[in-house]
Amino acid sequence: MAGSPRKIRVVGDPVLHARCRPVSSFDAELGALIDDMFASMAIAEGVGLAAPQVGVDLAAFVYDCIDAAGERHIGHLINPTIETSGEPEEHDEGCLSVPGPYHELARAPLATVRGVDRTGAPIEVTGTGFFARCLQHETDHLRGVLYIDHLPRNRRRRVLREMEPFDWNAPTQ
Ligand code: NI
Repeated sequence: MAGSPRKIRVVGDPVLHARCRPVSSFDAELGALIDDMFASMAIAEGVGLAAPQVGVDLAAFVYDCIDAAGERHIGHLINPTIETSGEPEEHDEGCLSVPGPYHELARAPLATVRGVDRTGAPIEVTGTGFFARCLQHETDHLRGVLYIDHLPRNRRRRVLREMEPFDWNAPTQ
């Protein structure tokens, strides 16, 4: 893989709790960011990763995720907007920026995301099941929202207490 892993930011880091800026330069620096995000997601064994999770406040995320039919989807989206439909379904959800615990959360079973790719070309991605959940989770990251922000306050506190550092997340940059 072309990129190299970057340190993954953990809940409490301001970059995770603010709205990201839209990408306007589709240059080599953006390409390097996307490559590094893929490398970071792979080493952390994540199914999705948003730019603020590696400390960059740009509206971009990557994914490597299985849908409701068992099909694997790998890709990236920049400046996304999302539409969801269907009766929300409860499933366990976790986040590399809240390392350790998982918690049930209701998400729509179908999501369509429209944005552009690293060259600026328009793309549209539709996901079902766990992939739909992933698309909602990553789009949330870009507006400064973590999955635990959807939980009642006492549940959120419990998840935060259960957090534990991961080996792959070395304290060095
Ligand atoms: Ni996350």
